[in-house]
Amino acid sequence: MEIKKFGVIGSGQMGNGIAQVAAASGLEVLMSDIKEEFTAKGIENITKNLARSVSKGKLEQLQMDTTLSRIKTTVDLKDMADVDFVVEAAVEREDLKFKIFEDLDAICPAHAILSTNTSSIPIGRIAARTGRPDKIIGMHFMNPVPVMKLVEVIKGLATSEETFEITWELSKKFGKTPAEANDFPGFIANRILMPMINEAVFCLYQSVGKPEDIDTVMKLGMNHPMGPLALADLIGLDTCLAIMETLYDGFKDSKYRPCPLLRKYVETGWLGRKSGKGFYDYS
Ligand code: CAA
Repeated sequence: MEIKKFGVIGSGQMGNGIAQVAAASGLEVLMSDIKEEFTAKGIENITKNLARSVSKGKLEQLQMDTTLSRIKTTVDLKDMADVDFVVEAAVEREDLKFKIFEDLDAICPAHAILSTNTSSIPIGRIAARTGRPDKIIGMHFMNPVPVMKLVEVIKGLATSEETFEITWELSKKFGKTPAEANDFPGFIANRILMPMINEAVFCLYQSVGKPEDIDTVMKLGMNHPMGPLALADLIGLDTCLAIMETLYDGFKDSKYRPCPLLRKYVETGWLGRKSGKGFYDYS
């Protein structure tokens, strides 16, 4: 199956990054969201990223213009009626994703593959909401999408080999390296990453160290590009909490209990970079 038209649901930090790499690879992209204000913000971010690459001499102005011209936006999901492949990158809420997949299943052509960028919601649970479980798959990009090389490709029990192969090849076309994972809570990336971030929050909660010291230990001691608390702020503390809840619910194992301090930050609206405050201040 040749993929020409590529749909992205959600124009937030993951969605606009995915739209950018898809358009840069030559695909015609339709990026949707619920408000024009959100899609405009997505385009603004893509423009900023591309312009930065042009100013550093890493991209030609013409390539930037071509990439941008390949991205259209919409606030009406029905416009996804002629896409060949969709990535859903909406907010990490199960009820919302279920509704989006039910709608996409009704709107998109029968041959279209419907993938999700979910960081931890089971692929099988999403697939069961549609009449095409063989064409449902996880395509999990990392943040920031244009920079990070990995795509975790997650097979549900019902995902067909053909769907898997197409998604795997598409990840490579985007310039990424795919890794295969099966459908268990948190898959591979977040099964390993989130407990580390959660433990860093416990270190702060129990006054083992200040944020700067916790992050310095992991940066300079383990050569991580950024410390776990700074990374949590980048990912979004609400997303981190949601992933820990999924691990805890999925395995019923106390080692995955979210740190109470993480919950308190989220309840207070301190969500990291996107809200201007998390473990660090961004205002
Ligand atoms: N969007 C696009 N490009 C960005 C960017 C962004 N938000 N942030 C940085 N970049 C680009 C810069 O422009 C720069 O590009 P060039 O190499 O072309 O000049 C490059 O990335 C390096 O940036 P900086 O020099 O400013 O800073 P850095 O070297 O510290 O790198 C970083 C920044 C890439 C974010 C690095 O700190 C890093 O790799 N951090 C870890 C990120 C990570 O672990 N991501 C995974 C999160 S988990 C996840 O996403 C899954 C989930 O489900 C939660």
